[in-house]
Amino acid sequence: MRAVPGRTGQNLPRVTGNGRAAGRRFDRDHGVTTQALFFLSQLGDAGGPAYARATHYEPVPVRSFRALLSHVPEPFLRTSVFVDVGSGMGRAVLLASEYPFKQVLGIELSPSLHAIAQTNLSSAADIPTRCRDVRLRCGDARRARFPKGDLVIFLFNPFDDEALRCVLDRILSSRSDWDEVLLLYYVPVHRDVLLERESETVAEPAEGLVTRFPARRGLFANKCSAGCRSR
Ligand SMILES: C[S@@+](CC[C@H](N)C(=O)[O-])C[C@H]1O[C@@H](n2cnc3c(N)ncnc32)[C@H](O)[C@@H]1O
Repeated sequence: MRAVPGRTGQNLPRVTGNGRAAGRRFDRDHGVTTQALFFLSQLGDAGGPAYARATHYEPVPVRSFRALLSHVPEPFLRTSVFVDVGSGMGRAVLLASEYPFKQVLGIELSPSLHAIAQTNLSSAADIPTRCRDVRLRCGDARRARFPKGDLVIFLFNPFDDEALRCVLDRILSSRSDWDEVLLLYYVPVHRDVLLERESETVAEPAEGLVTRFPARRGLFANKCSAGCRSR
């Protein structure tokens, strides 16, 4: 992955030819279809406000995903639900199933991409799965009901800043005071939105941004901080 100047002035990662080649290899090795690049308008799905705010479809490079996941401490990972907001054809969901999350969930706006992800999930071969509860949902993440408990939210630049505000508000307002949210943001174009909220930056690796919204109270407040800081 190479860094290129982003809209907000800082360096942002970009999927390179190597990343795409590794993506095609991932598809071949597991008998799935995830490597593609296009705008949602090319799919013929219904339009509407959510589509107007959406970016495009492109899968996260395998190596970048794993690098971002390395910032999640194992004990926190085991008690959390992983949510890919804008799960596309399901690459990040398939990769997340290799980790011992309590549950892995993908939420995707486009019915066409969701259908491909479902096929991928049912046909994927040789994925060293450690999470047995893997789900896909089709719908607008701005209207989604997010699972209760600790969350690891993954975003690969799915939409504009307004949609991100909306999704973040939904996640943060529906959690209990004991729940902690760790957010992995690949290509963090709208990082400023996170800084508007009470987030703490855990790490800023080349692959993106890792931030956390600590539990507001309870015995387990700051549960992931020690592990996060040590990485
Ligand atoms: C850059 S792709 C990332 C795909 C996937 N997360 C991955 O890494 O392989 C962004 C995805 O977000 C989806 N998306 C955009 N707006 C959305 C919304 N409001 N709700 C759910 N999904 C959305 C797009 O359809 C697209 O599939």
